[in-house]
Parts: sequence; structure tokens; C-alpha cells
Amino acid sequence: DWTMAGYRDEAIRKIREQVGDAKVICGLSGGVDSSVAAVLIHEAIGDQLTCVFVDHGLLRKGEAEQVVSMFRDHYNIPLVHADESERFLTALEGLDDPEQKRKTIGRLFIDVFQEHANAVGGAEFLAQGTLYPDVIESVSFSGGPSVTIKSHHNVGGLPAKMGLKLVEPLRELFKDEVRQLGRELGLPESFIGRHPFPGPGLAIRCPGVVTREKLAILREADAVFIDQIRRHGLYDEIWQAFAAILPMRTVGVMGDGRTYDYALALRAVTSVDGMTADYYPFTHEFLGETATRIINEVRGVNRVFYDCTSKPPGTIELE
Ligand code: XMP
Repeated sequence: DWTMAGYRDEAIRKIREQVGDAKVICGLSGGVDSSVAAVLIHEAIGDQLTCVFVDHGLLRKGEAEQVVSMFRDHYNIPLVHADESERFLTALEGLDDPEQKRKTIGRLFIDVFQEHANAVGGAEFLAQGTLYPDVIESVSFSGGPSVTIKSHHNVGGLPAKMGLKLVEPLRELFKDEVRQLGRELGLPESFIGRHPFPGPGLAIRCPGVVTREKLAILREADAVFIDQIRRHGLYDEIWQAFAAILPMRTVGVMGDGRTYDYALALRAVTSVDGMTADYYPFTHEFLGETATRIINEVRGVNRVFYDCTSKPPGTIELE
């Protein structure tokens, strides 16, 4: 009968069979999926694997440091920390269409991985933490006609253009199964329980154009929101929670002055697999306290909304 330990051994066998003695690079995003994929592949092929953590300038507060220390210090897995933020942010300048933003980011990821594949002496494979729902949702909307909802940058024919072959050991798994597999591989619970974070990062939490100013505001606001959720003991009940900065400014009053600042949307959902989701029913006290904290602690924000849309009809991310 089926066990996660059995799945792990089988996955390791398949990776060895597929890869042989070739080199593999793995794009690490800091999320659970790519981390589990990296640790699994490292067990299978050891130092034939190099992980590349691309800092695209669209990460959350403290994220790069956390990922680098976990992989270098705890796992001893060779890790390249590629600071490519200038390149990504420059390419995104002026773009406001969600698909254009996603495709631009996806294209740059290809370029960066290609460069690193060459740099490690000719990697033949690119490993990704693609899950089953990623495969389904980027191809067609469940059951319906074939319509692309969003171009996930980590799915599809990208590596074909790169001349790299794909290693996707999680392609048949759902999120809860990936977490089980992560436990099987000994990843720390604090990492396994992390909320998902999308490859395009904060770019898709800035509807409209992405600017450095908006990203800086978003990082601070998101950190306060997550801190509130942790303080109230709600983190593990929630599938994913984040702040998005809206492409509008509104008038407010602070002390005896007028303000004209950004509005934020907070989003928190429960879900089993990310394919459907319900908005999280925070209490009014929680929402009021969180809005007050964000407006007091984050410069540049004077209004906070809570998004009460479930999926469908909304998606989890705003873009
Ligand atoms: P949506 O917004 O489509 O998101 O309801 C479902 C889940 O997928 C995450 N997501 C992504 N993950 N690359 C990723 O690795 C992407 O391009 C991407 N877009 C959305 C989202 O955060 C949620 O967990």
C-alpha cells in the first residue's frame, strides 16, 4: 500500500534514472514546493545539483536571508544567490497588464537560469517544484473550456526554449502531499507550514504598474499583517494571507493634516489545494486593529480594505 516514504524512494529512483550523471540546476523560490524539490533531488544526486535562488526584487521582507541561511547553513546544498533585482524591476517598468507582467518575469527567469546552467559547467536539466494544480490551472480551467487563467512562470514549454530538460518530481502531488513529503525529508516544521508564495512574487500583488516605492510599502504592510496573524494564533488556520497595494490613492486626515496616500487590500483565504478558496472570516476587532497598525506603522498608506471574495469567482492573487 501507498506511503509517503515509498513515494520518496520511488521519486529518488526516478530522478537518478532520468538524470544519470548530468548536472541539474534547481530554481529555488523560497516556497515550500521548490524547497522540497531541491532537498529531494539533493538526496538523489548530491552535488550534481546546484540551487539558484533568484532575487528578482519582488520578495517579501527578510525572505532572501531566510532562504539562503536555510539552504547554505542547515542543508549544505550548493546555492547561488543571484541578485537580479535591477534587471527584473527595469524590465517591469511601465507594464500594467497582468499577463505581460507574468510573461516578462517568466522570460527573465529563463535567461537567468540559462546563464547559471552555463556557469556550473553545462547543466542539462532544470528542476522545478511544479505541482499538479499548477499543471491543471495553467492549461485549462477545471472542467471547462481550455482557457488560460494565468501563465504560471514555472509551467509549460519554457525549458524547451532553453535547451534544458525538466525535472519535476512533484508534478503529481497536491500541496498537502508536498508538505508530507517535506516532513519525510526532515524539513523544519516552520518551513513546511509557510504560506505559499507565487513565483512572480510581489509583482502580482501590485495591480497596475510595479514601482520600487510600492514594493517597499508592500513589504512593510505585509510584514505587519502576517505579524498580526501570528500574534492571534491564526497562521496555521490560513492557507495564504498577504497585502496588495491598489493602483489608487485616497484622501485621509492624520493629526491636523491632509494625507493623499495608497490604499491596501488585505487578503486571507482558507483552501485545501489552492484551486478553490474561501475568504477567512476575521473578527471585526482583528480587522480594525490590523488596519490601525498598518496605517500607523507603514508610511504611505492611509486606507485598508479587506477582500471578501472567494475563489471562484476571485482568484487567490489579484493578478
Ligand atoms: P490563484 O491566484 O491562481 O493562485 O488563485 C493559486 C495558488 O497559486 C499561487 N500562484 C502561483 N504560484 N507561480 C507560482 O509558483 C505563479 O505564477 C503563481 N500564480 C499564482 C498563488 O499564490 C496561490 O497559492
